[in-house]
Amino acid sequence: MRVAIIGAGYVGVVTAAGFAEFGNEVICVDKVPEKVEMLKNGEIPFYEPGLGELVGKNLKEGRLAFSNEIGQAIRDSLVIFIAVGTPPRGDGSADLSYVEEVAKEVAKGLNDYKLIVTKSTVPVGTSLRIKEIINNNKNNNTQFDVASNPEFLREGSAVYDFMHPDRVVIGTESDVARAILRDLYRPLYLRETPFVFTDLRTSELIKYASNSFLAMKISFINEIANICDSLGADVHVVAKGMGLDGRIGPKFLHPGPGFGGSCFPKDTLALLKMAQEVGYEFRLLNATIQANQAQMDRAVEKIRIAAGGKLEGTKVALLGLSFKPNTDDIRESPALYIAKRLLENGCILRTFDPAAMKNARSVLGDKCTYCKDSYHAAQGVQVVVVATEWNQFRNLDMNKLKAAMDGDALVDLRNVYEPQKAKEIGFRYWGMGRR
Ligand SMILES: NC(=O)c1ccc[n+]([C@@H]2O[C@H](COP(=O)([O-])OP(=O)(O)OC[C@H]3O[C@@H](n4cnc5c(N)ncnc54)[C@H](O)[C@@H]3O)[C@@H](O)[C@H]2O)c1
Repeated sequence: MRVAIIGAGYVGVVTAAGFAEFGNEVICVDKVPEKVEMLKNGEIPFYEPGLGELVGKNLKEGRLAFSNEIGQAIRDSLVIFIAVGTPPRGDGSADLSYVEEVAKEVAKGLNDYKLIVTKSTVPVGTSLRIKEIINNNKNNNTQFDVASNPEFLREGSAVYDFMHPDRVVIGTESDVARAILRDLYRPLYLRETPFVFTDLRTSELIKYASNSFLAMKISFINEIANICDSLGADVHVVAKGMGLDGRIGPKFLHPGPGFGGSCFPKDTLALLKMAQEVGYEFRLLNATIQANQAQMDRAVEKIRIAAGGKLEGTKVALLGLSFKPNTDDIRESPALYIAKRLLENGCILRTFDPAAMKNARSVLGDKCTYCKDSYHAAQGVQVVVVATEWNQFRNLDMNKLKAAMDGDALVDLRNVYEPQKAKEIGFRYWGMGRR
């Protein structure tokens, strides 16, 4: 099948390489020429484990190509996936300008029957809006269908997630579209991946409901951790005891400095906005978002306490800048938020991240020192903060870390260290809800 993917970001490139690996002829288009040039040479413009190998293999075997000529890609393809960004606007609603731009391009390139599929996370009603834009802008009578096929991959394990999804959701009103997508996803169908076939609106909402639920689960355990701090209970054991209940499940019960990334913050806001627009007050979601903001501020407060109540002039090593491990994505990263607050409060900041330093530098500039590893970051500081749970930070030589410091405070915002062990090494330890 000839497939075009519009947008060569985290989702677009993974989807393109994944469908190529399934044996399809895939062209992935982006409007940023430098990105396309890199991808043509098999270089991935962002950090995603395993993606380089998959792209390289499919480029070499001739099933995958990259281009910035959207018109040609549309004319040549039967199925067109929209995988462009849908960032938040000032009021929290999703900015659909990139999606609409693509819909207009599709209308221009409509030379034969096409199926247009939204993979981008889009508010309920957007796929119908795309249909309307194409109908209003096409200059012939060519037939087309629209479908919604939200993406659930996680950055850091995106290739695995694409190949082994928990489910594939397909929303469409068209039997032809359903048959085409079932065919395209045949390898997963054969592997007995659950498929949810539904209408456009329901499919679009499944994505927002899923992300909002996960965000709510994180905010919930964060608040439990916060009261553990005061009540003298251990949140890890609480989470374990909760998670063993099959109705609750063990995942997303790890406390931290708040959720971040390119999806949860924007998707929770967008769903809140969608609810407001239909006159519904989504109290739980509102609380989830507010609790998250408070959690990031609480993390800064913990660092202030560890620094003896004064941030100004305090030297702090911040380990981790990406919003989670195994990615260089710093969008809405709690670590970055904390870095900014520490700098505003006069801290002298030394940072290290295995992949996100370049992206962080584009935001923080020269206001902090970018170090070559964790021990370098710890040199001469009073406080070390673990802000992202990269594996590298789980296995640090704690004696070496302590020896590099000019102080003894360890703020473990990801609970990767055992409080007792840290204390034995000579740290004053602050975790999240660990007594
Ligand atoms: N990143 C994730 O983990 C993830 C997971 C699931 C769903 N999503 C959703 O998928 C969508 C894409 O996310 P992403 O993280 O891949 O975004 P991204 O910002 O990494 O990539 C989007 C790409 O689209 C390109 N683009 C924008 N307008 C274009 C146009 N008119 N023509 C061609 N290219 C264009 C941009 O240049 C950019 O490279 C979003 O709606 C997001 O919410 C993301």
